[in-house]
Amino acid sequence: MRLPAARGPITAELFRHLGGPPGTLGPLPDCPPGAVLDDDLQLALFTCYELHYQGFEEVDDRWEWEPSLLRARAVLERGFEDALARAVPRPQPVAPQHVRRALTALTVADEGPPMAQFLQRTADLEQFREFAVHRSIYQLKEGDPHTWAIPRLHGGPKAALVEIQADEYGGGRRERMHSELFRTTMRGLGLDDAYGAYLGHVPGITLAISNAMSLFGLHRRLRGALVGHLAALEMTSSLPNRRYAAGLRRLGGDDATARFYDEHVQADAVHEQVAANDLCGGFATAFPSLTGDILYGAACALTLERLWAEHVMDRWQCGASSLLEPDLADLVARQ
Ligand SMILES: [Fe+2]
Ligand SMILES: [Fe+2]
Repeated sequence: MRLPAARGPITAELFRHLGGPPGTLGPLPDCPPGAVLDDDLQLALFTCYELHYQGFEEVDDRWEWEPSLLRARAVLERGFEDALARAVPRPQPVAPQHVRRALTALTVADEGPPMAQFLQRTADLEQFREFAVHRSIYQLKEGDPHTWAIPRLHGGPKAALVEIQADEYGGGRRERMHSELFRTTMRGLGLDDAYGAYLGHVPGITLAISNAMSLFGLHRRLRGALVGHLAALEMTSSLPNRRYAAGLRRLGGDDATARFYDEHVQADAVHEQVAANDLCGGFATAFPSLTGDILYGAACALTLERLWAEHVMDRWQCGASSLLEPDLADLVARQ
């Protein structure tokens, strides 16, 4: 993937340095308030994190552990963490044996905008394409951010996370990897299936969803939030994916194109149990002081998803695109 266009003073300064040899990156411009939604901050943070995933063609791999970049990233992370703390009320800690019940209460209470019903019944093909473009930022690396937690856990919770992640990676079979299934969905929709192809098209809130996972995954102090985050994703996945599959078929999608969604109806009904009971329940028993973090991570996942869906639905209700570059002709695969 290549660096997209800068979106403000932070990315302009960061990208100017990343284009050259690793060296001393000075302080970046200040984080704006309202950072959860800020395009410039979220793209800068996403870019710093991406150096730990697939990287960028024109960025020297040695930037990954360049101390001056890590110092600048820490400032961006502080801005993001502060913004998350303002946006997401921190749930009360509970006794370890009540974590499952508390997670269920959080996920049931979260109604969010009726995005899945809209995609099932009303959306047109261009809106479904936009939905897939947003999701591609995470789903083409599906599983990776939560995998950071495996070496940070031990015993039952580690085994539970490996069980979930093994499914995300197709049980070792490439054609069953969820990221590969999503590439098939992208191609079926006439979209470019290359990793990061649409990074320049998505707004800050879409990047914030991925950045929260990377933040929680890359800091051991936040491992409680990471397992709670995964549980919230798994516990709110099965029914919406059934609706996405139905919406895609209504729009003429074939079985191969819908398979990513079909697969999640089944897989996440199982993952939900493993994540809530064995992963989060086991982790809470081992670290009773971190139950508040587990629930906070879940609440962050739900809030960011709600803010993203509100953004998309608001734009669609105005008859506008939810993407930064709304020309759909530009979205269609450029092979
Ligand atoms: Fe998955
Ligand atoms: Fe899953």
